[in-house]
Amino acid sequence: MTQVASRPADASGVFRLDGSLPVNRLGYGAMQLTGPGVWGPPKDPEEAVRVLRRAVELGVNFIDTADSYGPFVSEKLIRKALHPYPADLVIATKGGLSRPGPGDWRPLGRPEYLRQQTELSLTHLGVERIDLYQLHRIDPQVPLADQIGELRLMQQEGKIRHIGLSEVTVSQIREARKIADITSVQNLYNLANRQAEDVLDYAERENLGFIPWFPMATGQLARPGGPLDTLAKTYDASPSQLALAWLLHRSPVMLPIPGTSSVSHVEENTRAAQITLSDAEFQALGKAV
Ligand SMILES: NC(=O)c1ccc[n+]([C@@H]2O[C@H](COP(=O)([O-])OP(=O)(O)OC[C@H]3O[C@@H](n4cnc5c(N)ncnc54)[C@H](OP(=O)(O)O)[C@@H]3O)[C@@H](O)[C@H]2O)c1
Repeated sequence: MTQVASRPADASGVFRLDGSLPVNRLGYGAMQLTGPGVWGPPKDPEEAVRVLRRAVELGVNFIDTADSYGPFVSEKLIRKALHPYPADLVIATKGGLSRPGPGDWRPLGRPEYLRQQTELSLTHLGVERIDLYQLHRIDPQVPLADQIGELRLMQQEGKIRHIGLSEVTVSQIREARKIADITSVQNLYNLANRQAEDVLDYAERENLGFIPWFPMATGQLARPGGPLDTLAKTYDASPSQLALAWLLHRSPVMLPIPGTSSVSHVEENTRAAQITLSDAEFQALGKAV
């Protein structure tokens, strides 16, 4: 009991990536640890370091980042805060989006670029192998076989352990799985936006990890006065906790990665793992938002 209270993320339960690599289902997304437009350093780099360390203290052992967050600002902060890494920590990064400037994201999936970015992520994170490397976007200008093929090659070379996809359709996942083993999918999904329901159902059937990005609708579901504010009071929870508890209830393959730049919010969000919704409460929340 004491252990769960001090490590609330443990209460979210374990999911095994590819049936083998265990993570607590409630993780942390490290995109907020950058400047405006996900560009440059965060306003308070010391607080960013504290957020990462606190997340791990709270039992979070699954952290999502990307080369393009900063670029490289988020990955370098993770290394600064947490290296040498706890043995059970799984860092998932991504590549495949170029960053010409703040707020500007453009798919770039040429194999030599994916390889360059993977090499840079290995250096910036300070690891010999990346546990989960996600293709941030499929580049429509490059054959899928070249993009996934390069990741598979790097997997065979020992630079990548597992391969994931991001913002894809079910048919794209099926195509990618003809080329390499795919371990996870990361799509936009939250209480207020469930357009990826078919991808989530597919992930659940196939036991792929489903990582919902914008799990709190970029904070819209977490803010006081937001759509969950009144309901949260009846549950004796905060709006962000309700949004995350709903996700955790939705599927056993769900791995939410709430983002925040503040220690108090990472504490609040991680405690969502200790909230258990009944099926009726889950349905009611789904209808309310
Ligand atoms: N694959 C993709 O294409 C993709 C795209 C976008 C994001 N992602 C990943 O998904 C992760 C999560 O997305 P996100 O961080 O953009 O959105 P989010 O988790 O839905 O929401 C983050 C926002 O909510 C606020 N917030 C967090 N906790 C709060 C709380 N307890 N009370 C009030 N406000 C709170 C944060 O502000 P404060 O900093 O003030 O707490 C921040 O503005 C990212 O970190 C990234 O790893 C992936």
